[in-house]
Amino acid sequence: MSKPSYDWLNKLPKVELHLHLEGSLEPELMFFLAQRNGIELPYKSVEEIRSAYQFNNLQDFLDIYYQGAEVLQKEQDFYDLTWAYLQKCHSQNVIHVEPFFDPQTHTCRGISFETVINGISHALEDGEKKLGISYQLIMCFLRHLSESDAIETLRSAEKFIDKIHGVGLDSSEKGNPPEKFTRVFAKAIELGFKSVAHAGEEGPAEYIWGAIKELKASRIDHGVRALDDPELVTYLIDEKIPLTVCPLSNTKLCVFRDMSEHTILQMLDLGLKVCVNSDDPAYFGGYMTENFNELAKHLSLSKDQAKMLVINSINASFTDEVRKAELYNSLNSFINS
Ligand code: ADE
Ligand code: ZN
Repeated sequence: MSKPSYDWLNKLPKVELHLHLEGSLEPELMFFLAQRNGIELPYKSVEEIRSAYQFNNLQDFLDIYYQGAEVLQKEQDFYDLTWAYLQKCHSQNVIHVEPFFDPQTHTCRGISFETVINGISHALEDGEKKLGISYQLIMCFLRHLSESDAIETLRSAEKFIDKIHGVGLDSSEKGNPPEKFTRVFAKAIELGFKSVAHAGEEGPAEYIWGAIKELKASRIDHGVRALDDPELVTYLIDEKIPLTVCPLSNTKLCVFRDMSEHTILQMLDLGLKVCVNSDDPAYFGGYMTENFNELAKHLSLSKDQAKMLVINSINASFTDEVRKAELYNSLNSFINS
């Protein structure tokens, strides 16, 4: 099989399992919503916003990301944000998504949980009806906040259990180990939520063990630091635990110095269940196709490897077996066409 072109990668049916909806807020929409809500932004133009997106680490990014999210105030804003992401997915043949949202980013500003979840859910429902994109929504706890804050958030989520499929853990990783949230995740799992967690992005391999053993995470978000611990690598391979890797995010946040140094294809060759995702595409320079294309440009990704990465994401998804069969069929029809 030959090296894939951008066009081939764009047409390749794809599944996205690691995407923060607040991280898909493009500067144009940020400006539009700021104006609609009468908010003054600390930037004069879209160009000025984009040029502010230079990060040395995760915290640099998070500071700007939380500030950007302040333009999201009304149910319609959350709808517009989610709908814009789904349209982008449609244009890139992303056919199933499991996006994250961070309710605490909004509830701490006095926006109700209901406003957030209703806006997002209505857009996801429309995306399924009008664009054929299936979904499972995941609510993340902010790990820099307290356990009691997370417990309160879980309580708010209980009323919307039919709209939220899983819980996750994101925000500042270093100094906020998974163990801080063991009791919250245990309660969430008891309520019927799936469990995922960011681990081993900037934090150590030890946090990946913590996410698995303490939070019972069935997927690890990022997980690139797993390679530091050979015993963990063996465990992840044996247990087939998926890792939702985000190449452009990792280079923008200096987890890797350059895309040519990214280890995702080494991980794939080792038998780790890695897949490709965009994380916060409005901040990191690209959506799903751009992430795959970076691997083709800098790591000589083959079509076989691209197909394997999509198979890993279908296997790792929380959707039911019927929908999984449809996703495999779409992938195979494209590959054989
Ligand atoms: N929130 C949004 N993007 C994130 C990332 N890459 N890591 C941790 N928290 C996040
Ligand atoms: Zn993330």
